[in-house]
Amino acid sequence: MKLFLDSAKTDEIKHALEIWDVDGVTTNPKHVQSSGKSFRTVIAEIAELFAGTDKPISVEVNPHITDWREIVAEGRELAAISPNFVIKVGASESGFKAIRELTGHGMRVNATLIFSVAQAWHAARAGAAYISLFLGWKEQYGDSASTFVGEVRTMLDHYGYDSEIIAAAIRNSRQIAEATVAGAHCITAGQAVYEDSFSNPYTTMGEEVFKNAWDATPTS
Ligand code: E4P
Repeated sequence: MKLFLDSAKTDEIKHALEIWDVDGVTTNPKHVQSSGKSFRTVIAEIAELFAGTDKPISVEVNPHITDWREIVAEGRELAAISPNFVIKVGASESGFKAIRELTGHGMRVNATLIFSVAQAWHAARAGAAYISLFLGWKEQYGDSASTFVGEVRTMLDHYGYDSEIIAAAIRNSRQIAEATVAGAHCITAGQAVYEDSFSNPYTTMGEEVFKNAWDATPTS
């Protein structure tokens, strides 16, 4: 199961590469905005960090574009910048057509903003390499994130689609756990969520117990 960092901040990405051996990165227009850099500058910098690896970097086409031909044209332009780039395309009728065209031309696509099994099915049929299920956004409005991942996984397995599920917009360790158990292929979350997932209050408590025992015991 792959660990992706959901960020466009190069300092966070460098840390994730060096310390976690992160499997890839997902960006979106919000992440690019919070990097404080222009879109083209930041994606070029991220591409540089991953040069020589086969790790995917998801970059999103301009979300204002609704014509599939224009989505394809921008996707092809972005894909030419780096072999690591996976083109992120939003779910819609023209988005699914664009996904079919881009994958037909050998590009990898991440179908984004997926909130239903039907949308995931359209993305899988169109050949998307990745399908991003926005779990945090769903839960925020009362839907179950864990059953969603499981249903999409069942659909993919039933029909032998190759698409991988990205459990996206993850907010906490519980959502990571549910996504892994339900069969997601990848998790993407922000740095703070992963930092939290490394620790546990019981681990901290146990370390104190062991340190106290260590201090009360002669070493030789
Ligand atoms: C997924 O690929 C998206 O970039 C991401 O998970 C969106 O969620 P956010 O609300 O955490 O930015």
